[in-house]
Amino acid sequence: MFHDYAVTRADEHPSTHTDRTRLTPLLATATTKLAAAGVDSPRVDAELLAAHVLGVGRGRLALIGTVRADEARRFEDLVAARVARIPLQHLTGTAAFRHVELAVGEGVFVPRPETELLAGWGIAHTAPGATVVDLCSGSGAIARSIVDEASPGRVIAVERSPAALVWLRRNVAGTPVEVVQGDVTEPSVLAGLTGVDVVLCNPPYVPAGTPVPPEVGEHDPAEAVFGGPDGLTVIRPVIALAARLLRSGGVVGIEHDDAHAGAVAGLLRSDGRFAEVAEHDDLAGRPRYATARRI
Ligand SMILES: C[S@@+](CC[C@H](N)C(=O)[O-])C[C@H]1O[C@@H](n2cnc3c(N)ncnc32)[C@H](O)[C@@H]1O
Repeated sequence: MFHDYAVTRADEHPSTHTDRTRLTPLLATATTKLAAAGVDSPRVDAELLAAHVLGVGRGRLALIGTVRADEARRFEDLVAARVARIPLQHLTGTAAFRHVELAVGEGVFVPRPETELLAGWGIAHTAPGATVVDLCSGSGAIARSIVDEASPGRVIAVERSPAALVWLRRNVAGTPVEVVQGDVTEPSVLAGLTGVDVVLCNPPYVPAGTPVPPEVGEHDPAEAVFGGPDGLTVIRPVIALAARLLRSGGVVGIEHDDAHAGAVAGLLRSDGRFAEVAEHDDLAGRPRYATARRI
């Protein structure tokens, strides 16, 4: 990042800035290239990359008329990488999730906006002093948000992947989140832990073989994305694990594929140990997570 940028007004005399490039056409060209590459939000991505290079918030770009030649080059390099469909968050090194910033890169799943809803539900159900378990924690997005926005007594983040654990430990450093390396499908995971108030889980849930964009297929770890033939391979044992961990009256929330409308709620009901089973949509109106209360 280049923090020593000079802000120049767009109307300053060009002859005093011969080594500088105007930002507006740089952004326009980048947007065109990103759109041609099939990037979903080309203008936003171009602005976020420029803001990253310049070390400013995206909202301050409008105040910047020109950039140094080295900044323009760095920006163009990043745009080329994004055109190659490297995830935006891998290029900036961070992902925003609710009110926290997570460090992300190769080896860890980039947290998604839709998961902010499950985290918000978990926050709303975390009473002061509560014990919360974040299964399949990845970057630690949910666990970090619980600590950031609620007052839990204990937060335990469980993750299996050694590569993801590096990012998870980095993201929760300095917070009270306890990291456990474990496989949530193993009956012995979190052995001895009971009386939990809230269990949250954003597991791998995309049915195997589902086509995914290059950012996902080439950069999110496959074990973070795909959940077996029907997408429910991890969810089934997670429901049994939640039933074992939760106290009577404790709650569980599980994110799922939009193709699983009703399936996860059905599994929670048929388990027999949960009441108040409910389905929740994401902001696009797609079924996204199911919740229940331990009997
Ligand atoms: C969809 S990502 C979610 C990450 C994070 N909770 C989030 O919402 O951004 C799923 C995570 O589960 C982990 N995972 C997959 N299978 C697992 C298992 N059997 N036990 C523990 N973690 C697992 C993956 O490594 C990945 O980090």
